[in-house]
Amino acid sequence: FNFNVLFYIVAYLAGSIPFGLILAKVFAGVNIKESGSKSIGATNVLRVVKETNPSLAKKLGIATVILDALKGTIVILIAMSMGASEATLWAIGVLAVLGHCYSIFLGLEGGKGVATGLGAFIVLIPIPTIIGAVVWVFCGKVLKISSLSSLLGLTAVVISAILFNNGLNVGSNAPMYIIAFIIYYKHIPNIIRLVKGQEGKVI
Ligand code: G3P
Repeated sequence: FNFNVLFYIVAYLAGSIPFGLILAKVFAGVNIKESGSKSIGATNVLRVVKETNPSLAKKLGIATVILDALKGTIVILIAMSMGASEATLWAIGVLAVLGHCYSIFLGLEGGKGVATGLGAFIVLIPIPTIIGAVVWVFCGKVLKISSLSSLLGLTAVVISAILFNNGLNVGSNAPMYIIAFIIYYKHIPNIIRLVKGQEGKVI
């Protein structure tokens, strides 16, 4: 029996926990799956809760980013401490992001994988991830469009990982591309709105 399978199951189940949906429901009494972009991520928590309670929206948004990121980090760290191989760690990251984007608790619907991907990437490819996070935050401040900032930050992670392939803890690039693909794929509606100039500012 390959015990790594247990890591994969736990990673997918942990990734599936819809923290944004739960926090917005419990603390603000709103269902973010029925409003805004209908995504369960921090951006939509911020967007929907802001309509009634701006200061609470910020707090819930920040809590959602942190909790969603931890879903990507914790199982990897546990597996790492137990001596799991790099390939196993990457597979855990992929499954955590899949859980967030296609949650078993939400009929395989979910979020867009940015925070959970960040949580996995920061352990697996720290330096490209820090570069991507800087791009993400900078673009967020300048452009004030969450989806575009996420996509640019993600692209910066991928490009940095390619550029620094041999000097940094990159490992195999294939799972990184899979995670990036899932995140880009989940942003297709955002990309269509961006191209049409219809994507709203949120921050
Ligand atoms: O992190 C998700 C963000 O990039 C887009 O979210 O709700 O605007 O589709 P949303």
